[in-house]
Amino acid sequence: MTQTIRTIVNARLQGVEQLQSIAISDGRFTRISTQAGRVEPGADELDGSCNLVVPPFVEPHIHLDAAMTAGEPRWNQSGTLFEGIECWSERKASLTRDDVISRAEQTLKLFADNGIQYVRTHVDVTDPKLTGLKAMLEVRERVAGTVDLQIVAFPQEGLWSFPQGRELMEEAVRLGADVVGGIPHFEFTRDYGVESVRWLVELAHKHDRLVDVHCDEIDDPESRFLEVLAAEALRLDYGSRVTASHTCAMGSYNDHYCSRLFRLLKKSGLRFLSMPTESLHLQGRFDGYPKRRGLTRVPELLDAGLKVAFGQDSIRDPWYPLGNGNLLRTLDVGLHACHMLGMGWIEKSLELITDNGAAALDLEEYGIKEGLPARCVVLQGQSPYEVLLGQLPVLASIRDGRVSVNRPADSNN
Ligand code: FE2
Repeated sequence: MTQTIRTIVNARLQGVEQLQSIAISDGRFTRISTQAGRVEPGADELDGSCNLVVPPFVEPHIHLDAAMTAGEPRWNQSGTLFEGIECWSERKASLTRDDVISRAEQTLKLFADNGIQYVRTHVDVTDPKLTGLKAMLEVRERVAGTVDLQIVAFPQEGLWSFPQGRELMEEAVRLGADVVGGIPHFEFTRDYGVESVRWLVELAHKHDRLVDVHCDEIDDPESRFLEVLAAEALRLDYGSRVTASHTCAMGSYNDHYCSRLFRLLKKSGLRFLSMPTESLHLQGRFDGYPKRRGLTRVPELLDAGLKVAFGQDSIRDPWYPLGNGNLLRTLDVGLHACHMLGMGWIEKSLELITDNGAAALDLEEYGIKEGLPARCVVLQGQSPYEVLLGQLPVLASIRDGRVSVNRPADSNN
């Protein structure tokens, strides 16, 4: 049951000393004003209890079509990306509409309970029947009241390397996919990979779609498709609509090459997504010791003024057996893995699961400002540091003025 509220009182906004009162009308924030002190909530008012109130969490990179299939038909024993793709290829053969819808909605419920209201999911379109894509287009409509879902047409087995890969992608765009995906490092040859990136960016540009490429998700320092993606985005002046997911290989590039690459990245304005739990698990698998972390250069990209967000990538699927929908867990792991536990980074860290994710999704209306849709979450903590220390579930999630989640403080449920 959802309750409609007209004010959030005792709200703490990031970077603002005094408590705030946030008025809501017709599903939008109408007035944000400073309180003299803590107040008692009245009828139709939600008590922020002096906790941080931030925009809803954004899950920018997940695979809902594969979610909750770990161990089916077999477990990924090696823990590599490539055995994961083999397991998924076997599971994909038994995919049905109801199967996809049921698992996707179960996962989205988990996300909504954790304060996530915006999700970008990849859906494998290297399937002649496009079963997953068609089911996910239905899911997008079914969940519209609780989550905004973007669908990436993702060619898991390649655009050049899978029979009819390009035709299936074109069909997916025609059917209504929001975003064009790619996987150049998995194509049979480097040339195929380069051609695929150029082709998919052109396709997206022609049909006014976003781009999100699984790019260089490999420890191989010779995997350099990111430069191709950035150059294409720059050429078409499309950078704010283009996302490079993973870019794990950047963690293995030499600094000389990176200094040249970063000049291009800054010019292109590309968005970046890193999936720390997934990459720590899948990458470094062919290393002896020392083993690489397999993550992209997150702090360096942020220092260069580029937008980077963290995502979960998987929830209990052939690539990653864990996951609980709590992005604070992902953030915690990412900050550890990227050497970002200095207080300066911690204070800005919530941007990695809110604003920067919204930038990747190219959301037009996002944030806590007068006039914007009344969507936000109440966290358990008065600062990002406290929130990270506890990693407790959100106290409340508000969507268009309706309270969709409301739980008592210090709850782990
Ligand atoms: Fe992915």
